Amino acid sequence: MSQDPEDLKRAAAQAAAELVADGMRLGLGTGSTVRHLLPAIAARGLRDLRCVATSEATAAQARELGLPVEAFEALDALDLAIDGADQVAPDLWLVKGGGGAHVREKVVAEAAARFVVIVDERKVVPALGAPVPLELLAFGLPATLAAVAPATVRPGAPPSPDGHVIADHHGPVDDPAALAARLDAVAGVVGHGLFAPALVHDVLVARPGGVEHLR
Ligand code: 5RP
Repeated sequence: MSQDPEDLKRAAAQAAAELVADGMRLGLGTGSTVRHLLPAIAARGLRDLRCVATSEATAAQARELGLPVEAFEALDALDLAIDGADQVAPDLWLVKGGGGAHVREKVVAEAAARFVVIVDERKVVPALGAPVPLELLAFGLPATLAAVAPATVRPGAPPSPDGHVIADHHGPVDDPAALAARLDAVAGVVGHGLFAPALVHDVLVARPGGVEHLR
């Protein structure tokens, strides 16, 4: 297998596409790895899929490929969700949100009976580090940024899919659970990109030698 990152992303995506079955209610993540996932799912010609998308970009690509996308208001649970990640730690804490869709991605992951993470080997890190993406209410933004310091609004980032401000926390992530609790305790924080291991059912890591299944 080539070491081209796009080839590795495609390999992880193809392995995950094999987990999708007829009739599933499927959550679709966001990002460049997921962009390889959607054609791999579409190519399987599965019947009666019901998909929800975590971003407009994913929804648009899925529809172009003929995958049926519904509003998440129409479904109360998902059988499977598949998404990328920015960092994967050895204990399977994740950092997500490089694409600013982390709140929707967490809602989808929590709703899924099985949440599968697809990454190339560059995403596997010895320990999580900054930045940790944030989604913040515009109301009281300076006060919220002060409460979660050190944090800054992400330059040039469009609003989140739900119209909130995308920012990043730049402090250490030595204790992800403690940082997640600190961020969750601030009312102006809509959500953050720390995903706990309990959310994660499978991590598929594409390496030049093949796709490794971490859990
Ligand atoms: C978007 C995400 C993405 O899953 C994450 O940024 C990985 O993206 P890519 O597959 O492009 O590396 O969390 O909010």
